[in-house]
Amino acid sequence: MRYNQSLKSLCHPYTYNSKSTSLMMNNEKSPPNSSAVTCRRDRAMETARIAIFLFVVAGMTSFVIIHVYGDNPNSPKDGQFSRTHFYQHHFQKMQAFKASLVEYRSVASPPSSTTPIALVYHVTSYGADPTGKADSTDAILGAISDALNGPGNGVLIEGVVNLGGARVDLDGGNYLISRPLQFPVAGRGNLVIQGGSLKASDNFSNDGYLIDLSPAATNNVSAYNYEFVTLRDLFLDSNFRGGGIQVVNSLRTNIDNCYITHFNTTGISVQGGHETYIRYTYLGQHITAGGDPGERHFSGTAIILNGNDNSVTDVVIFSSAIGILISGQANLISGVHCYNKATGFGGIGIYLKTPGLTQTRIVNSYLDFTGIVAEDPVQLTISSSFFLGDGHILLKSIKGVVSGVNIVDNMFAGSDKGIEIVQLDESNGPFKQVDQVVIDKNNVKGMKIKATVARGSLQGNSSSWMADFNSVLVFPNLIKQVHYTFITKDSSFPVHALRNVSGNRVVIQSSIAVPASVHITADQGGGAFSS
Ligand SMILES: *[C@@H]1O[C@H](CO)[C@@H](O)[C@H](O)[C@H]1NC(C)=O
Ligand SMILES: *[C@@H]1O[C@H](CO)[C@@H](O)[C@H](O)[C@H]1NC(C)=O
Ligand SMILES: *[C@@H]1O[C@H](CO)[C@@H](O)[C@H](O)[C@H]1NC(C)=O
Ligand SMILES: *[C@@H]1O[C@H](CO)[C@@H](O)[C@H](O)[C@H]1NC(C)=O
Ligand SMILES: *[C@@H]1O[C@H](CO)[C@@H](O)[C@H](O)[C@H]1NC(C)=O
Repeated sequence: MRYNQSLKSLCHPYTYNSKSTSLMMNNEKSPPNSSAVTCRRDRAMETARIAIFLFVVAGMTSFVIIHVYGDNPNSPKDGQFSRTHFYQHHFQKMQAFKASLVEYRSVASPPSSTTPIALVYHVTSYGADPTGKADSTDAILGAISDALNGPGNGVLIEGVVNLGGARVDLDGGNYLISRPLQFPVAGRGNLVIQGGSLKASDNFSNDGYLIDLSPAATNNVSAYNYEFVTLRDLFLDSNFRGGGIQVVNSLRTNIDNCYITHFNTTGISVQGGHETYIRYTYLGQHITAGGDPGERHFSGTAIILNGNDNSVTDVVIFSSAIGILISGQANLISGVHCYNKATGFGGIGIYLKTPGLTQTRIVNSYLDFTGIVAEDPVQLTISSSFFLGDGHILLKSIKGVVSGVNIVDNMFAGSDKGIEIVQLDESNGPFKQVDQVVIDKNNVKGMKIKATVARGSLQGNSSSWMADFNSVLVFPNLIKQVHYTFITKDSSFPVHALRNVSGNRVVIQSSIAVPASVHITADQGGGAFSS
């Protein structure tokens, strides 16, 4: 018993029959020195006082007692005596009040390892070793299992039990894990796992993830496995075996303030589901601050989004072959800093592997010596981002489609090697369908600007002006619209016309040779043109 003797002697069984206490008994595993103990003691003393009063009243009429106990709608569970049993027990022992206190206590008190903070599952109370020496897999799985099987409070989405915000607390420890912490059952939600470090053991499977939100049991109760599970304040070390976190077919998952390192496969893998939000998180295969001599050997992928409607915000990816691999639609990447393996060594910052429909928005991000690859992008925005160290954007043709793409308002800085800010990979065939593509208004230093809108001015005394836009325009031999302004420098009033648009070259001719300046804008198809 953790309470001192004087408190203990004041305790009455009524205390342990209340709703809050029954939760404590089922679930509470917190250490005894928490602040809640003080409250608990105060409550115990107050309850005990009330109980003594009630016992006095009970001597006069039992209805009062029954009414008071009847206020509590929750019957005790899990082998505790029933309320009816309690009343019998209570009245039998009425005559030996003082002695009965001790006896009730021994019957009804929670296990000695428990103190009362509802629905917090402390892994150390399950025997996990916070020094990281002993294998803590079973202990932590025990806490997760109890949390998932704890009391529910209605449902979230149909079939997903609302666990009411239950928390599995890693107690700030460092735990060795030899098997994935795979959730044992499906159909649970409103749960937090927080506050500690997990490290894969030397025999951890390379195809596992330290935390795995895919159900071990196939209790198919819902269209989604989990809803509103939060993983926060975690340091995950995969020890170059397997990955960090896997989220499978889940809804509204938060990964918040985590540091995920030494993965051999993937830091965070999101498969199916909706709305996994990854924020304020650091991911890197190797712990480096950039310029690592082993950089060319970085492997693995920091984040895989193989699903829709996810968001990665304020995240740093400091080493991996691919920073973020996206193969679902409508994902948002914002405030991401990628300085994983440099493009020069074959790395990719963000890889959009969603040919035909991507609906990805990459904004306010920082691609640092690494770039973006987009396969047949359809609906893609890349804006307000910074590309450093020749980082650039590669549009890769799969079936030759690029449509609804905005690459605007970005900054590019490079090393004067003539690297183009936007490039095409047409090794599978040329882009044949180019529609509503706007690559414009980017500022460029030390790299070669590319755009879908090009402007030029020509001056001279001539009847023919030719502007070659090949150095700027992204797509070869594609100009959808030309605007020009013809300004004569003398009083002549010649007839002039657009005579030829071919091979990204524009020819303007006038009826007579005149000194003039000609300003030309050529557009590869950003605007909404009507024929
Ligand atoms: C892995 O190692 C842990 C100790 O680190 C041990 O408890 C466990 O049995 C091992 N598992 C296998 C499959 O070898
Ligand atoms: C890490 O992954 C590579 C393949 O990418 C594999 O060859 C290697 O065996 C893995 N390492 C471990 C420890 O399993
Ligand atoms: C459960 O079954 C439904 C319908 O058969 C299916 O759509 C859903 O994906 C399944 N859920 C899981 C978690 O397997
Ligand atoms: C422009 O060129 C034409 C034909 O070569 C010539 O007759 C004319 O004088 C020139 N005008 C000026 C202003 O140089
Ligand atoms: C336009 O210019 C191209 C290349 O110089 C040429 O092959 C083509 O015949 C010209 N078209 C017309 C209509 O003059």
